[in-house]
Amino acid sequence: MQLINLKTLHMKNPLGIDLNPYFSWMMQSDEFNVVQTAYQIEVTDTEGKKVWDSGRLESDNISFIEYKGEALKSRELYVWRVAVWDNHGNTAIETAAFETALLSMNDWKASWVEPSMKRKPAEPGFGNQDPATMFRKEFSLSNDPVKARIYVTCHGVYRLTINGLRPDERELAPEHTVYEKYLCYQTYDITKFLNKGKNAIGMYVGDGWYFSQQSLPDIKELKHAHAILFQMEVTYANGTKEIICSDETVKAAYGPVVCSDLYGGERYDANLKKENWDLPGFYDEDWKSSVVADYGYQNLVAQIGEPVKRIMTLPARNVLISPNGEKIVDFGQVIAGRVKMHLNCQAGTRILLEHCEALDKDGNYFDNILGANGVGMGCEQRDEYISDGVECEYEPMFVFHGFRYVKVSGLDDVKAEDFVAVVLSSEKENTGTFFCSDDKLNRLYENTRWSQRSNMLSIPTDCPQREKAGWTGDILIYAKTAMLNEEMTAFLTRWLHNMTCDQDQYGIIPMVVPYNGSYPEMGKMVSLMHGNEGKGTSAGWGDAAVMVPYHMYEITGNTVILKQQYECMKKWCEYVIKQAGSRRGENSELPNEIEQYLWNTGFHYGEWLVPSLSGNGFGDMDGMQISMKETSKYTAPIFGWNSINHFAKIAMILGRYQDAEYFGRIAKKMKDAIQQGVINEKGEMPINLMGAYVLPIYFDLVPDKFKESFSDHLIEMIEKNNMRLDTGFLGTPYLLDALCKIGREDVAYKILWQEECPSWLYEVNNGATTVWESWYAFQKDGTPMKLSMNHYAFGCVDDWIFRYIGGISSDTPGYRHLVIQPRPDARVTSAKRTFMTEHGIVSCEWRRADNGEMKMEVMIPCNSTAAIILPDGKMREVGSGNYTF
Ligand code: BGC
Repeated sequence: MQLINLKTLHMKNPLGIDLNPYFSWMMQSDEFNVVQTAYQIEVTDTEGKKVWDSGRLESDNISFIEYKGEALKSRELYVWRVAVWDNHGNTAIETAAFETALLSMNDWKASWVEPSMKRKPAEPGFGNQDPATMFRKEFSLSNDPVKARIYVTCHGVYRLTINGLRPDERELAPEHTVYEKYLCYQTYDITKFLNKGKNAIGMYVGDGWYFSQQSLPDIKELKHAHAILFQMEVTYANGTKEIICSDETVKAAYGPVVCSDLYGGERYDANLKKENWDLPGFYDEDWKSSVVADYGYQNLVAQIGEPVKRIMTLPARNVLISPNGEKIVDFGQVIAGRVKMHLNCQAGTRILLEHCEALDKDGNYFDNILGANGVGMGCEQRDEYISDGVECEYEPMFVFHGFRYVKVSGLDDVKAEDFVAVVLSSEKENTGTFFCSDDKLNRLYENTRWSQRSNMLSIPTDCPQREKAGWTGDILIYAKTAMLNEEMTAFLTRWLHNMTCDQDQYGIIPMVVPYNGSYPEMGKMVSLMHGNEGKGTSAGWGDAAVMVPYHMYEITGNTVILKQQYECMKKWCEYVIKQAGSRRGENSELPNEIEQYLWNTGFHYGEWLVPSLSGNGFGDMDGMQISMKETSKYTAPIFGWNSINHFAKIAMILGRYQDAEYFGRIAKKMKDAIQQGVINEKGEMPINLMGAYVLPIYFDLVPDKFKESFSDHLIEMIEKNNMRLDTGFLGTPYLLDALCKIGREDVAYKILWQEECPSWLYEVNNGATTVWESWYAFQKDGTPMKLSMNHYAFGCVDDWIFRYIGGISSDTPGYRHLVIQPRPDARVTSAKRTFMTEHGIVSCEWRRADNGEMKMEVMIPCNSTAAIILPDGKMREVGSGNYTF
């Protein structure tokens, strides 16, 4: 037996943490039925002093084990060692490490500095911003260091170099957060980059989320100006230490990045390059001085979660000459990222890149980006390079776009081999695979993975090309699937901590986190129009406060996040209860004892993008209004109840029994109110839509006497719609499960295999390489809509596919007890699904022969058990090991 995958805060050997760590590991063994019987963790500091010994604990817990030792010290490397005993008499020991960052504000000696150049306020659109700022500082070291760290952050997005070299490959640091309350700083090990004698530190700062108009942070104390903060701490062999900080000796200048807008794009003028600007000895007498700014350190947080990186490159597939004569490079795949190109052209040549996700039906360039945020801002995605006549590779530095195609202007000869697409994403570990006998389903799976990759870029976003915003509703419905694909724990933890920062005094969780750009104005306005105060939210969106942590708990058993988010969830639930109780729904004739438990007031997005109500996406504003109003009649009471009900469960899990009792009681009343006030006495929902029937069925809200009629009615609606779905954001994740629940797996499969619009395979048949925002993003004749082609939301169907075709699910939190039960229909003849649970990799591979016989190979990880349910209904309980059935 051996131990693998040791993690601290769910990251491998993290450098620079400031949260109380928790530990996890996995066991691997050749034997069957392996269970951990005991563990012991010891943590030692750099001097080898033991700061925690858990003692030997008889327990099978192998993850989210919180550190309970002495107070940790700043900038200290800790080694943790875990010993594990199993039920076969084996023992294994393994070690891992973590290093703390600066744990107290008093550790900060560096000053915030800004350039003395005045910036004009940025304007939206390509080219309307001031240049990116170069910062440099030279310093001398008396010797080669044996250890050197630098703690760095900025207002904007930065690229750090030490003596001209980047210490790591991260992009767009310091991440997208609620800057005034939560600004990440990064810790780098720069020991190898420093030398005795002269050294230089360079920071190139672009606009990023901090400045781009569409995402301007809602700040009061901070200023919209590029500013940097760095603190370098060097240790020499003799034990002496030295600190080098950002201060007024930092010099600043503008360079080749003439403007960088995260949305509009970047313009780079190679003639303005400053060769060797970040090396020692560079002449900077003509650079501007910088001034100290008093921004304090109270909002600084050591980064948790993986950095954004260039995770792969895709070669150009070909160059198209469109009927309009445009030169368009096709990368064959919709992505989030940017284009890298090889150039060899005359000085002064301007090469313009324009990005888009779809071509029009004739094959011409088509800008599929609707003005973001509904306020008609120009949202072209461009980059421009102005040549200095020197052959080079150019890739923009401070932007990313959503695209598959790029229109190239300014170059006579556009050759495919000169272009690659660089894919950007927060670099998380892959935790799942899926492959089956059906090519279309495989493509759907790939499309979802691509949409996940594109939209997990610093924060969970709706889409990478238009809003790049942390829409809460989108991740609410996709969180489970996301975690079945990638190691999401640290990434989502950071985002949830930011959600807490954005919660307002009423308990409102805004519709986007971070709450920035034009959303605050829009949110407040919408809120006021509907008689509410505060930031503005919606049922099914703000509920992410409860449901995202709950799904994290379901998939990984993470109770730490439940504790961390507890107050935030509770305040949200109190807000919902208050909303339900404070006003009567419009024209409501319900008695008060029912009415007060229904959340039926305020603004809501409703089910959102229900095909029959918003056919062509969201062009029809009147239709949208009606759709939001009408579908909210069931989404708000149900999602409100769902949050309260789950919060009561969470309180129970954490042993907060008073809360569990109180919220449990309210949830019960809300459920009764839905059964009497939303479902009418004839057993009808307020609006005759699939989603209206799916939600009560899925969430067990249908009174017994109406169970049959609800099921019949749902099936009837689907049949009338020619076996096509008619659900939006809040209905779709539950549709197939609701059908299985009423015993109609056959109908669930028909919807899955449906190829007419709206359906998942309609997208696949139409060449989708990602998941579309709306089922109608492309019309039948190939006409694209002004919609995002890259929204992960509807990719949530993969969660169902992994269970029904992949055959893997669990009936306990953290996938402790697995249920292996492929339930394919006739169309799939084989499948293989693997998933790395908290305990290790579970795998299920099955194949059905022509004679109907099915063979299944299963791998159950250590410390897990599984119920294997065979097609004939026979069940067998097994422990870890490999099995063939
Ligand atoms: C976003 C969505 C989001 C929605 C709110 C859109 O513009 O792209 O995905 O959830 O607004 O309803």
